[in-house]
Amino acid sequence: MRPARRVKTLAEDAREGLIEPPRTLPPKYFYDARGSALFDRICDTEDYYPTRTEDALLARYAGEIMCKVQPRHILELGSGTSRKTRHLLSACEGQEGMIYWPFDVCREVLEETGEVLMTDYPWLEINPLLGDYSAGLDHLPCPDGGCLYVFLGGTLGNFEEREAITLLRELAVRMSPLDRLLLGVDRVKSVHVLHAAYDDGEGITAAFNRNVLHVLNRELRGDFQPDAFAHRAVYNEDAARIEMYLVADTQQQVHLDELDATLRFAAGETILTEISRKFTLESVTQLLARAGMAIEGHYAPENEYFSLLIAAPQRNVHVAVI
Ligand code: SAH
Ligand code: TRP
Repeated sequence: MRPARRVKTLAEDAREGLIEPPRTLPPKYFYDARGSALFDRICDTEDYYPTRTEDALLARYAGEIMCKVQPRHILELGSGTSRKTRHLLSACEGQEGMIYWPFDVCREVLEETGEVLMTDYPWLEINPLLGDYSAGLDHLPCPDGGCLYVFLGGTLGNFEEREAITLLRELAVRMSPLDRLLLGVDRVKSVHVLHAAYDDGEGITAAFNRNVLHVLNRELRGDFQPDAFAHRAVYNEDAARIEMYLVADTQQQVHLDELDATLRFAAGETILTEISRKFTLESVTQLLARAGMAIEGHYAPENEYFSLLIAAPQRNVHVAVI
């Protein structure tokens, strides 16, 4: 089946987002092979608390979650290295007929992860899906038997409110009454903790952010000097979101041969490369409700840094016009 929407090419996104300020690019372009490897290193830094917090929640509650939902399929959006998902897979150890569908935009990470998982979970069928979830979800395989959709890492926070609702609605529409969504969202907390998480002391997040410039150089034959851009993470309290920028150190020009375009940066000019929204229980409940889902389970650590939610599709009355 074809995707519901055609997604823009990098050239189109760059033409639209980069030539004139305010400059911005969709975050999916971080994740080439190098970017995915850098992201994996971010997850191990002291400052980036979401991964270990969510991992601890999954380690503790995976058994309970799988028992409750009893899915035959696990379909994960933005699965990356599937590190934390292993708790869910291990909780169904040896269960005949289980199928894991990791869905990601990065081919290399899907291939590498697929191989490791095949070795570690010989009883499990693994069907990686390479694609872009912003193209819609209609073209995903339609698993029979219950499906647990999994969306971890606070990645939903990388979507603007409207885009998040669109994605969750598309999911709600395809969910059968027995299907569930396991959603990991990051919570509003102290600015210092948030700031450090997106500007870690080892500089890996900075390298990850700059990686998008390497991608542009390679894919659009550009001459960005990644070192001439600083990484900046700002917590926008009003919008309850981290904003990640690349900031031109000095006045500079960049040419993108593929677009036949020149970008002129003044010193201090920015590219917004990512937002990461932080939720309260109220705000995520509302978001899910607007998408046609209701929260059925909630797991959080004592410090409430992160939430794992189980959401169910709301039942609607469908009036057929005859
Ligand atoms: N789920 C993992 C990884 C989170 S990082 C974790 O919790 O640690 C976000 C992941 O989503 C990356 O693996 C990235 O390649 C993938 N991704 C980003 N944009 C995407 C898109 N538009 N479609 C599909 N996958 C995407
Ligand atoms: N989904 C992750 C988050 O919002 C993505 C992420 C973590 C990220 N650190 C980053 C994106 C640094 C860009 C730069 O937490």
